[in-house]
Amino acid sequence: MPMKTSSVLISRSQIADRVRELAMKITQDYSPRLKANESLLVVSVLKGSFVFAADLVRQLNLPCEIDFIEASSYGAGTQSSGDVKILKDLRGNMESRHVLVVEDIVDTGLTITRLLQLFKTRNPSSIRLCAFLHKPSRSEVPVTIDYLGFTIEDKFVVGYGLDVNERFRECPDLVVYQEAK
Ligand code: IMP
Ligand code: MG
Repeated sequence: MPMKTSSVLISRSQIADRVRELAMKITQDYSPRLKANESLLVVSVLKGSFVFAADLVRQLNLPCEIDFIEASSYGAGTQSSGDVKILKDLRGNMESRHVLVVEDIVDTGLTITRLLQLFKTRNPSSIRLCAFLHKPSRSEVPVTIDYLGFTIEDKFVVGYGLDVNERFRECPDLVVYQEAK
């Protein structure tokens, strides 16, 4: 699956700047809310958010725990079915915890909506969403994104954790995916 690599949409330095800003805001918001013995439970939605979550938690000036969940709403194609399967659940409990869910991209919104519905049944103290990207033009259900990295147009992007058929997650920049002719 060769790709033309000339189309950087958001560079690694733009990403780093934005992650720092988001982390500062999250730190400000949660510092007064966490009691002395509490930590923020950061839930990274695999696989796409692993790079973003890793960068974000290292910029937070808060006591954190990190857990992972893997969900899949896509079959072989690129259309979200809304039928979300939990492929790997969290290890820990979120009851009475302050939870920050970290997602790579909100596209149709179906995946994250299902996940947030599931999490709310687990009785966290609070739950907020931090998404690296949002494609509002593709939205099928309204999603409140409490902390958003970037809004992008309806283009398929890879890199910074995002893939096409498991490729290009390791690319440090966010790139528009174009198959080489
Ligand atoms: P949604 O249910 O349509 O919001 O799907 C969100 C999921 O689809 C994300 O977590 C990504 O895994 C995947 N996705 C959506 N758009 C893109 C893209 O442009 N590049 C890579 N993955 C994408
Ligand atoms: Mg994906």
